[in-house]
Amino acid sequence: MCGIVGAVSTRNIVPILVQGLQRLEYRGYDSCGVAVHASSLEAARQGSVPGGLQRARSTARVAELLEQVATEHIAGATGIAHTRWATHGAPAVHNAHPHFSHGTGADANTTSAGRVALVHNGIIENHEELRAALQARGYVFASQTDTEVIAHLVDSHYSGDLFDAVKATIAELHGAYAIAVVHKDEPHRVVGARAGSPLILGVGQEGSEHFLASDAMALAGVTDQIVYLEEGDLVDLQLGRYWIVGKDGAALTPAQRPVRTVQAHSGAAELGPYRHYMQKEIFEQPRAIADTLEGVAGIVPELFDGAGVHGEPGAAAWRVFKEIDSVLILACGTSYYSGCVAKYWLEDIAGIPTQVEVASEYRYRTSVPNPRTLVVTISQSGETADTLAALRHAQSLGMQHTLTICNVATSAMVRECKLAYVTRAGVEIGVASTKAFTTQLAGLFLLTLALAQAKGRLTDEQEASHLKAMRHLPVALQAVLALEPQLISWAEDFARMENALFLGRGLHYPIALEGALKLKEISYIHAEAYPAGELKHGPLALVTSAMPVVTVAPNDALLEKLKSNMQEVRARAGVLYVLADADTHIESSEGVHVIRMPEHYGHLSPLLHVVPLQLLAYHTACARGTDVDKPRNLAKSVTVE
Ligand code: F6R
Repeated sequence: MCGIVGAVSTRNIVPILVQGLQRLEYRGYDSCGVAVHASSLEAARQGSVPGGLQRARSTARVAELLEQVATEHIAGATGIAHTRWATHGAPAVHNAHPHFSHGTGADANTTSAGRVALVHNGIIENHEELRAALQARGYVFASQTDTEVIAHLVDSHYSGDLFDAVKATIAELHGAYAIAVVHKDEPHRVVGARAGSPLILGVGQEGSEHFLASDAMALAGVTDQIVYLEEGDLVDLQLGRYWIVGKDGAALTPAQRPVRTVQAHSGAAELGPYRHYMQKEIFEQPRAIADTLEGVAGIVPELFDGAGVHGEPGAAAWRVFKEIDSVLILACGTSYYSGCVAKYWLEDIAGIPTQVEVASEYRYRTSVPNPRTLVVTISQSGETADTLAALRHAQSLGMQHTLTICNVATSAMVRECKLAYVTRAGVEIGVASTKAFTTQLAGLFLLTLALAQAKGRLTDEQEASHLKAMRHLPVALQAVLALEPQLISWAEDFARMENALFLGRGLHYPIALEGALKLKEISYIHAEAYPAGELKHGPLALVTSAMPVVTVAPNDALLEKLKSNMQEVRARAGVLYVLADADTHIESSEGVHVIRMPEHYGHLSPLLHVVPLQLLAYHTACARGTDVDKPRNLAKSVTVE
């Protein structure tokens, strides 16, 4: 998804800007660009590079942008850079950021014509009316983006002070944005603003240089001194100083926006022996689960204070767990499916009524708020716009008990929820989520146990037995990963198909959903999942010998019912691919391919059954030659609505 990096320095900042983009590029993008103030660099003033704003933009990889800036001698000490994920206007050079004010219409890839250069993450909802008004005033548009209106607006408000111009501009914007702006007449200044999209400030070398970025990861290796900007903040970066103004227009003190030391991971993790990050991340799951459970000696409320990230002590968690009478889970995509699994656990083990909602739907429907509900958001990135908006909507309805299960300790989600369980999957680079999902499930299972304990539904023996099973998960996962050769053989069949059905029941229905999502997003095979009992209510009409039917068949209370559903498929010549526990007595035969799962794992079985489905999707995608880590049209961190 879109990424921002900006800097004010005394050295040539272009390599840092472009490397920042490289750290963000795994999130998915379709074009990239950089603009610098050439005259901000003393050397540039004396050398051959003319002053003013210069930019380079590309629809190729960031590595090629780096070559382009070298070829075109683009250098400067003040600049902004961007990776774009198209929302308004096709992926094309003329739509790539930075956008200039007074673009030259059919402007060249590199031009020094701009007075204002601007990058933007988010969506401006009133861009059409703003565009019409600006055109009426003579502004010429060079792109189809909503972003370009902001550049022209800043230009229209400029009368010698960029900060004032940006302040006047954002007063006219409706929608979500994080922006970074430079002006040709102010060579040592970058102004930023955020509302609805993340933006952070980085304090660099001895406080003399400053950075802006959409994520601290972009500044890994440059600075670990980070200020998290909040909704409505405006920030003014100049050489050797910065200041932040809050949404009420008042200057904020360092105590209000403290500098924090963060451990930002570099996105450029080593691939090691793996072909793709997704494969690496699938195989990291035993380690990720072990790390997530490290130090969990028992179910204690301190587990949910986000390792003290935002200072809510364990006692607060305990009070909340005792008080609440229901759970509302809000999430998107894969994270939503982990919430669907948790619903079964929470109702079965903790006896707490639980509702799971797709975040983008919840925020727009009329619901009946219950202030005694625990609102649980689940997110790998912690920056998903829909989930954050749903959280804020729940808060606005008076639901103040909020908890997140999140993989990024420094994310907006962790900061905005009162309680947090931070998973330790490590940076997930493949766009298709794998280890984040299983660690979310681990966190959700711990939450279930904590709520069961608070409600007096968990004996010491039960707690010990559940924790023992959790601690054995890394070993159990290793045994499942050893099934990879059999899944490669299944993948050879799937690579020739255009459709697939996934079936599961109970706890494993969300696992079937997740298996179908993985297959479609990286192999582009159309896949759907159903609770197996629903088959006869419609989808059975699709079953032919060209429709593989993946069935998740653990040895649980629904096994016999599931076997009947499988017979329904075989009777229509459908070909079954079954993940069966050892003692299910389901054997391979004509039209039935069985992979035997190592052991039955009770409540935690979904964590094991999802792994072969991840491997099936991965190897099918490899066989079809798709871009596994960066599937078309998708982005890692979905920071727009
Ligand atoms: C699918 C996938 C997405 C994300 C979804 C939510 O493999 O990764 O469906 O799960 O975009 O993202 P987070 O978890 O970052 O909120």
